[in-house]
Amino acid sequence: MTRCRICGGQVRKFFDFGRQPLSDDFRAEEDVAGAFYFQLAVGVCASCTMVQLLEEVPRERMFNYDYPYHSSGSQRMREHFAQTARDLLATELTGPDPFCVEIGSNDGVMLGVVKDAGVRHLGVEPSGGVAELARKDGVRVRTDFFEESTAAQIAAEEGHADVIYAANTICHIPYLDSVFRGVDALLAPGGVFVFEDPYLGDIVERHTFDQIYDEHFYLFTATSVREVARRFGFDLVDVRRLPVHGGEVRYTIARAGARTPSPAVERLVAEESERRLHDLETLEGLGAGIDRICEDLVKLLRDLRDQGARVAGYGATAKSATVLNYAGIGPDLLPCVYDTTPAKIGRLMPGSHIPIRSAAEFGRPYPDYAVLFAWNHTDEILARETGFTEQGGRWIVYVPSVRVL
Ligand code: SAM
Ligand code: TMP
Ligand code: ZN
Repeated sequence: MTRCRICGGQVRKFFDFGRQPLSDDFRAEEDVAGAFYFQLAVGVCASCTMVQLLEEVPRERMFNYDYPYHSSGSQRMREHFAQTARDLLATELTGPDPFCVEIGSNDGVMLGVVKDAGVRHLGVEPSGGVAELARKDGVRVRTDFFEESTAAQIAAEEGHADVIYAANTICHIPYLDSVFRGVDALLAPGGVFVFEDPYLGDIVERHTFDQIYDEHFYLFTATSVREVARRFGFDLVDVRRLPVHGGEVRYTIARAGARTPSPAVERLVAEESERRLHDLETLEGLGAGIDRICEDLVKLLRDLRDQGARVAGYGATAKSATVLNYAGIGPDLLPCVYDTTPAKIGRLMPGSHIPIRSAAEFGRPYPDYAVLFAWNHTDEILARETGFTEQGGRWIVYVPSVRVL
């Protein structure tokens, strides 16, 4: 039996993807033999409702100097984080000497705006490569994992934070107990802990099962986040649904009793209960959808290959590792994937070993079909790659179902 990382309750497994590689482990051909594999299975806690992975990957294997994901790679996300920073500056960072800490600040896309406003800030980012990029832009970063001891040191050296912010990072951290104790040590009495992550409600609704991979240890809901916050002496005081990355929720957490929760919290919790979002049957329904999508995608790719069509992938996303490896898609069905990230180009997709080519070469010549793995950036990519469809190219999407656009 697997015990819940939050409450020690029983975790009931609802889907097992089998042995999977690390989703951001883009290796050169000569290095693939050393790749790390683990069992990717996901379950729901019968006691506290938290949806979580059953096996934890050691954190240094995922987050190290070579971590390839650059937050600034998408124009839409740059705008999203600039707006987020402006909102925090206007609402929470208004005192005489405000202090903003970001957990998982990556290349500094959000904190750069806080810095430009002349506000005291600090990023906590264990992946040294992206942390260096942020420092080049003048953003202050501590290369470290955020946990209780890091937070206590920051509080001692720099004082308490008015805002602790994190995007697409808290769900990556299995040791949430240490994170919450750290927030307790670092947050000013009236401060807020704000974080946004992929929302289980959207994953179930849109069948976006590829959000399940090594780094996404938790799939949060308002119900499960409120529960974990309470265990550590905090209240969930606001929730806001965000349209980025296929559907996220921004959670605002304050010390117990410090702020009146907005009605949006109770509304979303009630909606989750009506949808039976944490029920095993609901989550097993997601599993049935996963098998259907993978079967349909493999069938389509086989048919296209047999017809002699040229097919490629677009976006060497972390998410795509789950689809490609669970469906068993390799270079025979998908000869290459195009991507804009310098650290991924020339490497192989984890597990499937499909070569990655520069997106600049996409049109030399265009393939007949392209599987859109970066579906969370659909608008941006379709607007950039108009030449592909103009010369007759067709996009293939696989969520919420397999379709040729
Ligand atoms: N916040 C950025 C965004 O939303 O684009 C980056 C998100 S990226 C998917 C996750 C980041 O969290 C990585 O840069 C990783 O190194 C960092 N990270 C992982 N564990 C962490 C921890 N314990 N403390 C701080 N950062 C962590
Ligand atoms: P993400 O889904 O984790 O945000 O990763 C998106 C990936 O897609 C990343 O490797 C960069 C790549 N990408 C492109 O190749 N072209 C684009 O226009 C965009 C927005 C992303
Ligand atoms: Zn639990």
